[in-house]
Amino acid sequence: MKNREIKGVVLAGGLGTRLRPLTRITNKHLLPVYDKPMIFYPIQTLVDAGIRDVLVVTGGNAAGDFLRLLGNGKDFGLDHLNYAYQEGEGGIAQALSLAEPFARGNPIVVMLGDNLVEKGIAAGVRQFGQMDEGALVYLKEMRDPRPYGVPVLKNGRIVGIEEKPQKPKSNYAVIGVYMYDETVFDLIRTLKPSKRGELEVTDLNNAYMRRGLLHHEVLKGWWADAGESHESLLAANELVAKTRKRQSKCKGKK
Ligand code: G1P
Repeated sequence: MKNREIKGVVLAGGLGTRLRPLTRITNKHLLPVYDKPMIFYPIQTLVDAGIRDVLVVTGGNAAGDFLRLLGNGKDFGLDHLNYAYQEGEGGIAQALSLAEPFARGNPIVVMLGDNLVEKGIAAGVRQFGQMDEGALVYLKEMRDPRPYGVPVLKNGRIVGIEEKPQKPKSNYAVIGVYMYDETVFDLIRTLKPSKRGELEVTDLNNAYMRRGLLHHEVLKGWWADAGESHESLLAANELVAKTRKRQSKCKGKK
């Protein structure tokens, strides 16, 4: 990706069924996490990693709320934000395909709009920026990774990813941060809908893996998938609150 601009994509569509009734009216990504709407966190994470051109993909009835909330990105020090509208429900990879006119042949870093990371992704974006081609995913060690994509690892390399397996083959989750070269949209066109009728991001990552082009980093600091359950939403609130208090204590000492 050398000498090429890396663009950012935040995926914020979906029905958020696992968080009902909170999401009956409000889009999941607009729910509060401590003192900010959920979607602020992934956008800030991309900006903190040096990405200046960001696309928000959303859908459903609440799509207009994103424009009113985020505007041109002033809260993040941006002077422009891009938006795309997902019609219906087609899965993460289908939502991502809407980013093709925005990416215009550039590499992209994709974040799911309900994923929060404590320490950012700057190291991974730097590593990705040095690669000639391929994809990079982030892993996080977990006690129970069953609700997530779970990598099968062999000699330090990913040899497959299983989506929400009953019997996970490792103690890692593939988190909702994905980095792709410009071939990603052609690969999405080769995907077939899964049993739940969606184009799965895990199938996309496996397509890179089969070409020997899937790299990974292990995430430092905590990770929260705030949209996974009411419990995980509460945990995300608590993690952000704790981190914020620690940071303000540190600032006070200086
Ligand atoms: C999605 C992906 C899964 C990944 C997770 C991270 O799951 O399909 O592989 O581990 O995001 O948040 P979902 O949250 O859509 O069930």
